[in-house]
Amino acid sequence: MAFIPSCVLGFSSHGLPTSSFNESFISLFGNDHVIFLDDERKSVQISLDQSSGSGFASQLTYLYSYFSASIKLPGNYTAGVVVSYYTSNADEYTTNHDEIDFEFLGNTGGKPWTLQTNFYGNGSTGRGREERYTLWFDPTQDFHSYSILWTSTWIVYYVDDVPVRVVQKIDAMGGDFPSKAMTLFATIWDGSNWATGGGQNKVDYKYAPFIAKYSSFVLYGCSANPAREESAAEMCGNAADLNSFNGLTTESKGKMEKFRIEHLIYSYCDDRSRYPTPLPECNLRGKSS
Ligand SMILES: *[C@@H]1O[C@H](CO)[C@@H](O)[C@H](O)[C@H]1NC(C)=O
Ligand SMILES: *[C@@H]1O[C@H](CO)[C@@H](O)[C@H](O)[C@H]1NC(C)=O
Ligand SMILES: *[C@@H]1O[C@H](CO)[C@@H](O)[C@H](O)[C@H]1NC(C)=O
Repeated sequence: MAFIPSCVLGFSSHGLPTSSFNESFISLFGNDHVIFLDDERKSVQISLDQSSGSGFASQLTYLYSYFSASIKLPGNYTAGVVVSYYTSNADEYTTNHDEIDFEFLGNTGGKPWTLQTNFYGNGSTGRGREERYTLWFDPTQDFHSYSILWTSTWIVYYVDDVPVRVVQKIDAMGGDFPSKAMTLFATIWDGSNWATGGGQNKVDYKYAPFIAKYSSFVLYGCSANPAREESAAEMCGNAADLNSFNGLTTESKGKMEKFRIEHLIYSYCDDRSRYPTPLPECNLRGKSS
């Protein structure tokens, strides 16, 4: 009788190869503020000062992927500063773009950064799905990994190994679930008018330059060539296992629930002044995720 090992089916991000900045990205704006941190060009810093913010973008677009980077945020007084790591296709689809975001919102001296997650699908910009969290570590002291798993039916946001948010596509969301190829971006910019205290605490350039460092890039997924019409399955190549992801393990769910009890400070699902009737996926919380 054959021995059948008990195994967990589905996608695992462990052991995925990292890629250098050179292989996978190009600088996007504030080019003289995009600086390599090592000879192999594996790590990069971007900065904001009075003259400019800066950012970089992936060379390819991706339809369903696992993206990860280790990021170290600027310390000291960072009110009004926004550091981002996100996917978008707003350049290509001006009225019906998709987007999946990590946004880090700076703070006044000595106060912790806030992490925000959000997503849009097919131009659902009138229906923001923001959540905000504190972190269980100081993100200005060390690099920590921030990852997005995006399949045709799931989005999972991870901080280090902890899933902090899970979105499962349901029919009632209509086109609001991101489903077109996107570029990966990282930026630092002046968000004085909203990022901190609802815009009360502006960027103070006395503390510039504000420097965010990125390393350990993983872009694992279905890279799309905008010039060719291929199905997502064809584009996935070796990353076909992504779509075998079918929800978190019990252990991961436990980690997420603990995180959310301790660190969730805002969810659009609980904001009745914005959404008197919660958006459809809010009913799923605590059940499917
Ligand atoms: C990075 O890319 C630039 C421009 O293509 C090239 O000149 C340089 O040699 C590359 N460096 C490494 C370490 O790959
Ligand atoms: C914080 O800012 C002060 C004043 O600009 C500076 O002396 C100090 O080195 C900064 N600390 C860090 C960790 O950047
Ligand atoms: C996305 O938006 C486009 C343009 O507004 C529309 O034609 C299409 O039906 C939408 N797709 C979905 C899945 O809602």
